[in-house]
Amino acid sequence: MNSLPAALLAFSLSLMSATAWADGQSTYQQVCAVCHGQGAAGAPKAGDAKAWKKLIAEGQVPLTADGYMGVRAMPAKGGKADLGLADFAEAVVYMANQSGANWKAPDADMLKKMEARIAQKNKAKAGNAKP
Ligand code: HEC
Repeated sequence: MNSLPAALLAFSLSLMSATAWADGQSTYQQVCAVCHGQGAAGAPKAGDAKAWKKLIAEGQVPLTADGYMGVRAMPAKGGKADLGLADFAEAVVYMANQSGANWKAPDADMLKKMEARIAQKNKAKAGNAKP
């Protein structure tokens, strides 16, 4: 009777990945869809493979980090000041995967790379702000 724990483990693992997916979707619906659903203000529409092709080609780390900081009409953190990088990143995965990518929710290692890029850009910005 030791197949029960194994089955439970498999079940909770599948639940975990399903949750990551659902979180990306719910963040998308709550925060991003207002612009990315209809392509408002020039936002690349979720599901528009043509609009996302170039973005996907940039790569998951730079695209997520740059989006999190804001790009032109794209507000930093999608305009939600308390949105964490991991939640933002999962929403990016959700949109990209609707649009032709096959990305996974970032692991700790990838999040670190995103954070490093953000820190580096913030530093460059601070430098530019000086007279
Ligand atoms: C107020 C409208 C608005 C909201 C809300 C919004 N976006 Fe955007 N987003 C934009 C626009 C406009 C662009 C295109 C920016 C450009 O290239 O000029 C964009 C571009 C992006 C890009 C591509 C960035 C790049 O490097 O070109 C990503 C990734 C992105 N958004 C993710 C998100 C995520 C994730 C959310 C929700 C957490 C979100 N956006 C919420 C308007 C929005």
